[in-house]
Amino acid sequence: MNDAAPNAAPQTFYLKDYKPFGYEVESVKLTFQLSPNATKVHSAIRFTPKADAEDNRFFLHGEQLSLISAKIDGTPVTARLVDGGLECDVPGRSFLWEAEVEIDPAANTALEGLYMSNGMYCTQCEAEGFRKITYYPDRPDVMSTFTVRIEGDEPVMLSNGNPTGAGEGWAEWHDPWPKPAYLFALVAGDLVNHPGSFTTKSGKDVELNIWVRPGDEGKCAFGMEALKKSMKWDEDVYGLEYDLDLFNIVAVDDFNMGAMENKGLNIFNSSCVLASPETSTDANFERIEAIIAHEYFHNWTGNRITCRDWFQLCLKEGLTVFRDAQFTADMRSEPVKRIEDVIALRARQFPEDGGPLAHPPRPEEFQEINNFYTATVYEKGAEVIGMLKRLVGDDNYYKALNLYFERHDGQACTIEDWLKVFEDATGRDLSQFKLWYSQAGTPRVKVSEDYADGTYTLTFEQSTPPTPGQPEKAPRVIPMAVGLLSPNGDEIRATEVLELTEAKQSFTFDGLASKPVPSILREFSAPVILERETTNAERAFLLAHDTDPFNCWEAGNALAKETRVAMVLDGAAPDAAYLDALEKLVRDDEQDPAFRALVLSPPSQSDIAQTLHERGHTPDPQKIYDAAETFTQTLAQQLETSLPRLYAATTVEGPYVPDADGAGKRALNSRILSLLTRLDGGEQAARQYASADNMTQQYAALAALMKAEKGEAQSKAFFEQWQDDRLVMDKWFALQIACAAPETTAATAKELTQHPLFSMKNPNRFRAVMGALAGNHAGFHHASGAGYQLLAENLIALDSVNPQTTARMCAAFQTWKRYDSKRQAQIQAELERILATSGLSRDTHEMVSRMLSA
Ligand code: BES
Ligand code: ZN
Repeated sequence: MNDAAPNAAPQTFYLKDYKPFGYEVESVKLTFQLSPNATKVHSAIRFTPKADAEDNRFFLHGEQLSLISAKIDGTPVTARLVDGGLECDVPGRSFLWEAEVEIDPAANTALEGLYMSNGMYCTQCEAEGFRKITYYPDRPDVMSTFTVRIEGDEPVMLSNGNPTGAGEGWAEWHDPWPKPAYLFALVAGDLVNHPGSFTTKSGKDVELNIWVRPGDEGKCAFGMEALKKSMKWDEDVYGLEYDLDLFNIVAVDDFNMGAMENKGLNIFNSSCVLASPETSTDANFERIEAIIAHEYFHNWTGNRITCRDWFQLCLKEGLTVFRDAQFTADMRSEPVKRIEDVIALRARQFPEDGGPLAHPPRPEEFQEINNFYTATVYEKGAEVIGMLKRLVGDDNYYKALNLYFERHDGQACTIEDWLKVFEDATGRDLSQFKLWYSQAGTPRVKVSEDYADGTYTLTFEQSTPPTPGQPEKAPRVIPMAVGLLSPNGDEIRATEVLELTEAKQSFTFDGLASKPVPSILREFSAPVILERETTNAERAFLLAHDTDPFNCWEAGNALAKETRVAMVLDGAAPDAAYLDALEKLVRDDEQDPAFRALVLSPPSQSDIAQTLHERGHTPDPQKIYDAAETFTQTLAQQLETSLPRLYAATTVEGPYVPDADGAGKRALNSRILSLLTRLDGGEQAARQYASADNMTQQYAALAALMKAEKGEAQSKAFFEQWQDDRLVMDKWFALQIACAAPETTAATAKELTQHPLFSMKNPNRFRAVMGALAGNHAGFHHASGAGYQLLAENLIALDSVNPQTTARMCAAFQTWKRYDSKRQAQIQAELERILATSGLSRDTHEMVSRMLSA
């Protein structure tokens, strides 16, 4: 054991310090002798010193390993155990390093390295988990081929690549593609497979499997179809083919993240792959399809071309998120996907960018890399690629991507390499564009307009508020997609991309018969905050007439926000014109149901808090909650007479199909049911609950009833029906808290932490409860401080079990400076309490100190 002392000053790693490893790793051979508490790992690794190495230090990472023996070329050597690994004197020529270590998978509750979940062995190595399996240069720029032998009595024993042999008690695997250690994987246990196959465009047959625990076989068919669609899509759109004869997916119950792209052996959180109509909602199906695509797409963007170091994480994650979004847009609805993504970006990335945890998509320093798998790296990373595509155009985008795959296949790359292919493919200078990768913070773009003599002028002023460590910001390249409408609602100028490059810039449009209505930032063409003086009348006009579906929704969203802000700040009544516009839209059967459902979904309370904060007000969570309640109640009453008819008209008949079309209709129907339940005492929802044959409708009915405090019987019945299904029980846990009133939220959550089915060891269950607490805005921020206290207590308890999940969930406090001084003091006390915990993990220590110091 060579862990750092508790609360020791943590080491910071810097991008500028990058140095290549001094040795080539020619090949890796690993032998595992599996045993729950004492697994032996033997490694045989051929190293060759690099002739041009700046640094010949032979250092191998290693953590929580018991070293049994080490040899060089067959002769025992004495390695020096140092902080975070070992050093050894080695020959100045090629040599074979062998080590034997012992590890304890059953005691590994951090779920990083080799661990056990529900009796099965599995691994999670990204980002730096391989060093908990054996001593190794655990960095993504060290790539090698792996041969793996697994010895044990598990019925199924899998690793990366192709099987090369198996017998009683052993199995061997070989992965011909050189890879970094973070893509290594091993799974062993009592598993059954749902098989499938795919023939690539060049005619190669690929065997596909989804491996699950016995009993879950019936929940694999949807994932398998999603995998085949992904493989086909990547061939059709990017020309990329799969490169092994076998592709395995395994579902595990205990997993810190959603899923992992290990070469040829993807490992999934069971919540992100198992699906059936009875147990999964439409949202689950959409997420599963997207995440299977995401991990599959990593085979090229991440695995064949990987990252030089972890500062470059967005090179693979931003690009792969961008690709999976393109896929979902193609499989489902492009505008709906765009709107969903912008809602998520504003809910998760904007608060990060505007708070103490702000960092650029390519950070320049970190203490614990696990803390940088963030909305900024992922979602903003993807937005940056979307802007690049918009600026260079589709043809140039694919030209640049082809060059990327051609030039960098088999390499570990940087953002510089990525931008260079765009420069070379298009002849464009991207030095200013590169600021998107190095500057944190969300730009504000102030828009003003002028009209005279047929000429319309739009003036844009951009600025970005300071972020931690970055007081000054330079103007960035911002693609601003703009269209113009005439006052009678016709589009008079189609979408055009204006390129902002200066702090202040004007663009003119000539030959107009009258002052147009601008539709600005169409498709949300850049991740910025627009500031523009406008009126509710103009917003309602755009809601009715804009040809850009995103901006059409955005207009409705802005109206919803304005109404709620006015209700909170001035005690105003819900805006009548807006209610009328909503009513009209709900009844408009010409409009896509999914789109109507989105317009009818109110902005979240946390979104209202963020908006108030951006405008210089201190949000009061209780007032925001009250305004939301009043608004929804008023809307329900306004629609009262038509709700039963609307409910009937939007009910989807026939067998459940988890496609986009059905999902959109059910989303609208569920919104209407929740309004109706406020007025009919829960009659319709109770009927729907009783007759539902799929989880989407069962869950929607239960949620509507519980929100109206009419769901006690159904909640009990739901528990009885589903208590043996872990994934459905996660929904039940979360829903109790999501539906609780502000004053009872913390108590409800606390009670659930005492429930026999609550567990600190299963991240899904912990997140179901604590995530729902943090997600209930008014409940979490209740003036008593009970929400803060409960979360802090549970984070402290979780930290020694699972630091990664603890640290991620700490981010629930990141918006603390938005609130009043009393709440700030309460949160600060909780953060300080966490920080003072003895033995606190490096992960949580970094997150909490960043939140406190900004
Ligand atoms: N490579 C990640 C998984 C990962 C993240 C492993 C952090 C270790 C540490 C994977 O490709 C990923 O990004 N998964 C996402 C889902 C995806 C659809 C954005 C996840 O797990 O949430
Ligand atoms: Zn990913």
